[in-house]
Amino acid sequence: MALYSEKVMDHFRNPRNVGVIEDANGIGEVGNAKCGDIMKMYLKIENDIVQDVKFETFGCGSAIASSSMATELIKGQPLSEVRKLTNKAVAEALDGLPAYKMHCSVLAEEAIQSALEDYERRKQSGE
Ligand code: FES
Repeated sequence: MALYSEKVMDHFRNPRNVGVIEDANGIGEVGNAKCGDIMKMYLKIENDIVQDVKFETFGCGSAIASSSMATELIKGQPLSEVRKLTNKAVAEALDGLPAYKMHCSVLAEEAIQSALEDYERRKQSGE
């Protein structure tokens, strides 16, 4: 069996939603101290819906594929759904990741939750 699913390879080779959103209203950056990979998520939220999402990932192929898939899963979704996104859902949508690569999908979950927290913080402080 191939180590990586076709979906992982597809999202690694042709990642969706790569880049920066200049007027993002939620930005989250997380890293994994062990492997040194870094992931940054930009959210543009309007009326409690993720209107746009982009990412920059400096990391392994699984991290890139996980970020790409995660952005696809949350784009156009209400925040109530986005809050429920887990790394498992990201890995499942990729048709699985090798066990020792599951932490790469955790980064995607954490980056999105961190961007959501940033959005809530800005909202509360009236930015
Ligand atoms: Fe660390 Fe993939 S090896 S995020």
